[in-house]
Amino acid sequence: MDITQAGSFHQFLVNLHQKYGDIASFWMGEQLTVSIASPELFKQHSKPYNRPNDFFMLFEPIFTMDSIGFKNNEEWRSRRQTYDKAFTHQALTRHCDSFIKNVFKLADKWDKIPDGQHIPLQEAMFSLTTSSLAETLFGDLFQNEDEVLELGKNYFVCWAEMEKRLAGDLPNEGSERLKEFDRANNDMHEILKRAIAIRRQIDVNIGEELLIDIIMQSTESENIVVADCITYLVAGIHNISALLIWCLYQLGLNPDLQQKVHQEMIDVLGEESVTAESASFLKYTKQVLNETHRWAILAPFAARVEDEPIKLGKHILAPGTPVIQAFGVVFHNPTIWPNPSRFDPSRFDSSSSRIRSMYAFQPFGFAGKRKCPGSNYTYASAIAFLSVLLRKFKFKVVRGQDIYPVYGLATLPREEVWITLEKIPMPLA
Ligand code: HEM
Repeated sequence: MDITQAGSFHQFLVNLHQKYGDIASFWMGEQLTVSIASPELFKQHSKPYNRPNDFFMLFEPIFTMDSIGFKNNEEWRSRRQTYDKAFTHQALTRHCDSFIKNVFKLADKWDKIPDGQHIPLQEAMFSLTTSSLAETLFGDLFQNEDEVLELGKNYFVCWAEMEKRLAGDLPNEGSERLKEFDRANNDMHEILKRAIAIRRQIDVNIGEELLIDIIMQSTESENIVVADCITYLVAGIHNISALLIWCLYQLGLNPDLQQKVHQEMIDVLGEESVTAESASFLKYTKQVLNETHRWAILAPFAARVEDEPIKLGKHILAPGTPVIQAFGVVFHNPTIWPNPSRFDPSRFDSSSSRIRSMYAFQPFGFAGKRKCPGSNYTYASAIAFLSVLLRKFKFKVVRGQDIYPVYGLATLPREEVWITLEKIPMPLA
């Protein structure tokens, strides 16, 4: 079996597990690699936290070896403990206003668009997520919209190149494609360096530090600050955008589900803005977001490596064997999720969730405390965005589009998704 032939690494894993069962090995170049795809095996593999760096080398040009993504053992642990302070409940409560402010900018723009006009959903969600993340992670350094736009454009070029490489399509030495990538990557780093230099001049109140401040306070190294700022920004933009795109896509296809979310928002929030407290009562909305994670397979896998031999199922793996945790394969396992390609948020109501292993649904990873640091941030921002958009507009997906997912490091539609909206006459605070 071949990864390029399969079309994506995720599809390769689907084929592999279909043929060989829940645990299977394959050659990644010259490296024997094991993949696991069942809640029981995930549970057995829940302690290791080190990543096999070779596996992610493809992304080194963007993140650089200074990134937390390439750190293991004590260095990783100490950075994560420090940076996680940027994602506490208090921090998210503070960010809520920024999320709302940013989504209102989009809603005001959409208010001026005639009902029924075609709107590019991917473009809109990437722009919303980029400005919102830039502001909440780095402060109002990017209030200059041109700078955010420039950051977004460069980021897109870089990410598209990474996705091509992940699918086995490598650029030729000296090619225009490589030059374009190098330029965009360099510009993205330069924009971040400028932002960091400005932020260094600002006196930040204790307790109001953002991720950028926490990183700057923890190291003398400019390279680490840039690398980690880029790592969090890129991971955040892509994943939250993907979540919103697929969520609005499904709600646009399913007016009954959309109405249910809308009604819950009216019942819980009335005309008020959502807060960290009121968000916890939007239970159906959270079910819809969870089903979006599962259905769209937003982040298809994680990977680990251990210096010790480890036991998985009936097998003992030699030290240094990379292990892929194939979340995406489990998300569409029909014995866990009947009719898995159907979008059905009721899979996440409390009675259905109770009877399932918790390891069947871990979209942010689970192992060795290396779970995604942005999980709460993701729900907080997505709920804030949806709470405004779904009370102001009804969405529909324009008919006749062929929407296919591309499974990269995050899963996105191959082409732009066009939607229409209809304004709902209700004033919002
Ligand atoms: C839909 C939203 C998201 C999904 C599905 C997602 C998924 C993941 C997954 C599966 C991992 C690997 C975990 C592991 O190795 O076990 C990860 C890591 C990571 N994510 Fe997320 N993520 C999301 C949002 C975010 C956001 C909003 C941020 C930043 C604000 C973020 C920053 C990171 C970082 C920095 C890592 C690496 C952490 C480390 O190495 O310790 N992610 N994410």
